[in-house]
This record gives sequence, C-alpha cells and structure tokens, in this order.
Amino acid sequence: MARAKVVHRCRACGAQSASWLGRCPGCDEWNTLELVESPTPLQSVSVIASRVAPIGAIESPPTVAVPTAVPEIDRALGGGLHRGSVTLLGGPPGIGKSTLLLQLAAQVAEHRGTVLYVSAEESPSQVRHRAERLGCLHERLLVASDTDLDAVTAVLEREVPEVAVVDSVQTVADASLPSAAGSVVQVRHVALHLSRVAKRLGITLVLVGHVTKDGVLAGPRVLEHLVDTVLSFEGDRTGDLRLLRAVKHRFGPTSEVGLFEMTAAGLASVVDASGRFLADRRTGQSGSLVTPTMEGQRPMLVEVQALVAPNEGGSPRRSAQGIDGARLAMLLAVLDRRAGLSTAALDVYVSVAGGARAAEPAADLAIALAVASSATDVALPGGLVALGEIGLAGELRRVGELDRRLLEAKRLGFDTAAVPAGSDVDEPPGIRLQRCSDLSDAVCNFLPLD
Ligand code: TYD
Ligand code: MG
Repeated sequence: MARAKVVHRCRACGAQSASWLGRCPGCDEWNTLELVESPTPLQSVSVIASRVAPIGAIESPPTVAVPTAVPEIDRALGGGLHRGSVTLLGGPPGIGKSTLLLQLAAQVAEHRGTVLYVSAEESPSQVRHRAERLGCLHERLLVASDTDLDAVTAVLEREVPEVAVVDSVQTVADASLPSAAGSVVQVRHVALHLSRVAKRLGITLVLVGHVTKDGVLAGPRVLEHLVDTVLSFEGDRTGDLRLLRAVKHRFGPTSEVGLFEMTAAGLASVVDASGRFLADRRTGQSGSLVTPTMEGQRPMLVEVQALVAPNEGGSPRRSAQGIDGARLAMLLAVLDRRAGLSTAALDVYVSVAGGARAAEPAADLAIALAVASSATDVALPGGLVALGEIGLAGELRRVGELDRRLLEAKRLGFDTAAVPAGSDVDEPPGIRLQRCSDLSDAVCNFLPLD
C-alpha cells in the first residue's frame, strides 16, 4: 500500500534529507530544514526495482570528449566537452568567464558547428564589441540576449545548436516563480530546466555561475549535483594568471589544470608555466627557494618566498598565500622542535610568487628551507630546488613523480636538488642530488646554523 515517506525539506533551496540536519547540505543555510511528508508514495520504489539488472549486462555506450580547440580547456577537461553534457563554469565576477566562453564559442563555431551564446548580462552589441576585439566573429556563432527562461528555452529549441552557453545562470529567471532572479530557488530551477532541455535536444550546455571570493554564494554550490561537470575559474584579479580546474567531472580526471594569462587580446594559453612563474625571480636573496610542484600531470616550478620579521608587539603574525595556513603552522613547529630554529616570537609571511600554489606536501621542504633562509638572512644557492614532505618527527618523506619534477628543474637551468634520502631515483645527468635524511640535515647542508 502506498505510504507517504517522511522527509525534511530546506525552506531556502528545496533540498531534501531523510533525517533532520542543522545545516542544509544543499545550500549550507542553518536551521532551514522542515519536516514534511513526501508526496512520493513508496510504491514507486517497486517500479524502479523491476529494472534491476546484473552490472555486467547494463549497456553503457562510450562517452566522447569533443575537443573544443582551446588546448588549455581541453586539458582541464581531460580531452574536451562531452557531447550532450552540462558544464557549470564558476568563478568570481570579473575573472574572465565571459571572455573565456566567447573564445571557446568562436573556436567551436570554427571547428565543430553552430554555437548559441545566450547573454543574460550584456546586450548583443556589447557581446559583438568584445568578440570583435577578441577576433571571435564567426558566422556560426549566434548571440541572443535574454533573461527570461521561457525565451531562452524557445531559442534553444529553435536553433538546436551544437553547443549553447548561458551567461549567467543567476540572471535568467522564470517569471512564474515568486522569488527574484539569482535566488537559490530560481538558480536551481533555471539550471535544472535548461539541463533537461539540453539533454532532450542533445545540446552540449555550458552554464556560467558567479561565486563570491570565498566561493559560497547561492549559485554554483547548490548546482554542483545537478550538472555533469563543474569548472572553476580562479586567479588573482589584479594579476594576469588564471587557472581553470575541474572540481567535479563525471567523465574524466579532476586533477588537471588549464593555465591562462589575461592579455589585451583576451585569454592566452600559458604553455611554459614554469618559465612564467620564474620570470621575475631575483636570486641571491634570503627567503627564496624554487620547488617543482605537480598540477595534474604537469610539473610546474614555483618560487616559494618567506619573510621572517621582528614582531612589533602583540601576537606574532602568520600569513600564507598559495599554501595552506595550517600546514605552515605545522612546519614552523617542526622547524622549532626538530631543527632548533624558533620563530615563535617573530612574524612569518610565506607566499608563492606569481599567484601560483604549492599546496601539496611535496613543497614542505622548500617552505621550511625558505623560512630558515629568511630567519638566518642567508640566501640559498640560486641553482637549488627542494622537494620533500616533512613529517612531525622532522623526517623527510618521498614524493611522487620525482623524475618528471627533476627533469623540469633541469630544463629551467637548476643544477642541484635537495631530496629525501630514501628517494628511489638515480641522479639524472646535469642535476646533482643532495639526499637529506631529515629537516635538520637539509638545513645544515645549505645554511650555517649554530
Ligand atoms: P569578463 O570575461 O567580463 O569577466 P566575468 O565574465 O568573469 O565577469 O572579464 C572581465 C575582465 O577581463 C575585465 O576586467 C577586463 C578584462 N579583459 C582583458 O583584460 N582583456 C580582454 O581582452 C577582455 C575581453 C577582458
Ligand atoms: Mg561575464
């Protein structure tokens, strides 16, 4: 017999949960879940159950990644956009989402087929103006400017493009809903509706979603589970560098990163990432050290900079840019207890130059050595790179992909690498390996400590 199921529904975003939760998993709001009776009778469960099949007998047609002809986008996506998939491109306002997608649209129009760019934020003439500047005029690139969901749906149904871009999901709204455009209810409804239309018509859909600086705004967070792929476009707005990351990807890896530079002629792919990050480096100064990090499959040399300064009263400051703050605190504690170098009463600033990141544990040794170098005001050798995860006992742990990291260091002209003693790698020609057993050993090798 059909029986109503007890569920809890969020007042703000409509997400459902079987049990009551203080914080809504859909939109992160507090105390918004309310007890309701689900209109879905349990009877429907048996209908689904009758379709159960052994896993090996289920047909699964291969999904095809279609290259977009923008190499750095294809790299981030592990090949390209999957036909008929829905992708959300999230990022803060002004980071370059519209620029990136206009460039993508022009490339797809050139190489694949019709692209419909629905601009719900700018007029068609503004889009044309930008496209002209970017060299993106193409006869198969169609532009519509609409904010009404029904109108956007109608144009998708009429044109049935290969790829459709909707910029942005926060500015399109369904007039029949009482809430305002950009509200959680509207954003979810618009995204769900457009996804269904796109899947029905076989259109590859890209939605733009704005996020605030800390990435928590209603938009993208509540949409993540509705779409196949979530791309995040990040970077320091004041700098030129932009990173495109797959945060969720139903069809491929989420470790790859696309790198771009914002130029006067739009976004340019960064081919030599290491060269880009080290371009402004000044050698011979204390507190600076280069480390080869991995961004997905790509080794990338970044410069870690540390500044240890006297504290002017009050509690000592710790500032971490491009690395994790908690990791820095741990490394300072290990430096203190295991290498006899205390910064307890000093301000410590650590930053990865050029807006890059050194977020993996393999960067530990470079961070610790840069701090030690600044604290002693002794410059580390200009041709040195360092790699190694530091444990709480001060021990150095091996890192993955050491060969590829060392090759990249050699390519950029580095001649010495400080690596964990246990590293299972032969010395590559042209680069000397300084095997260090622990942090204290590494510090003593390169800095004169009493
Ligand atoms: P935009 O794509 O409009 O950002 P979003 O859609 O994420 O809000 O890009 C905005 C910034 O990019 C703007 O500040 C100007 C800059 N820009 C360039 O530097 N060069 C260019 O060729 C273009 C089109 C934009
Ligand atoms: Mg925009």
